Amino acid sequence: MTGTGGGDKGAGTGTIAEAVRTVARRIGSLEPRAAIVLGSGLGFLADEVRDAVRIPYAEIPGFPAPGVAGHKGELVAGTLDGVPVLVQSGRFHLYEGHGADVAGLPVRVFASLGVRTLIVTNAAGGVRLTFRPGTLMLIADHINFMFRNPLTGPALEGEERFPDMSEPYDARLRALAREVAREAKIPLEEGVYVGLLGPSYETPAEVRMLQRLGADAVGMSTVPEVIVARARGMRCLGFSTITNLAAGISPTALSHQEVLEVGRQVGQALGTIVKGVLRRL
Ligand code: HPA
Repeated sequence: MTGTGGGDKGAGTGTIAEAVRTVARRIGSLEPRAAIVLGSGLGFLADEVRDAVRIPYAEIPGFPAPGVAGHKGELVAGTLDGVPVLVQSGRFHLYEGHGADVAGLPVRVFASLGVRTLIVTNAAGGVRLTFRPGTLMLIADHINFMFRNPLTGPALEGEERFPDMSEPYDARLRALAREVAREAKIPLEEGVYVGLLGPSYETPAEVRMLQRLGADAVGMSTVPEVIVARARGMRCLGFSTITNLAAGISPTALSHQEVLEVGRQVGQALGTIVKGVLRRL
């Protein structure tokens, strides 16, 4: 299958295998316990990785160059608080023109390398009325409103044709995250993330619709990655940093700058939760 738009080479079986070979060669004997996808504000975690092997996307077949300000483009392998991990610093958004298969390519690579646990983080707008900028939300479930799916096309080897999605975010990992947050005295909400294509933010009418549909937070990522992970039998844990109130709830216009700033402010707290979960995996 080829990616749509964006000049991607597509992320079919051959490309995945080449990417896996490249990353495997670079990380050597490291056996990552988890892969962590860093959203806005968590970039510092990539710098905390010890004995880090940094693999720029330009060196990985099928990985496009990163496009958004504040988003990096490298895989970082090493240990975080003593736990072997693979960190994805910079993700591929559909709004950049990438196909959903490209957005899901890194996760296919992680799965092929034997990683069983995926931790995804993102910045999101608060749809639930009690949320405030800086609220941390554990993702309980998601709604795919991107109208794209990374699994369309021929079923790839090792993937379900019709993967079950009844527990996209692992219940035991969520319980662990709540426990870590409670012990660290970090308030952690839980709710439903809705993924939209973007890149324009939502209108107030769209946000009211999303509220009625059962969404608590809205963003433009994460859904393709989690779909691929479930098709590969990986267990997922997801967190949203509520960087702003969604349109119509917010008294002010939305800005990417605000998203980045709030993301950074609460990044430390989310980093504490992620590391606490890693230590107990
Ligand atoms: N909408 C969509 N995506 C977002 C938002 C938002 O309000 N904030 C951060 N990412």
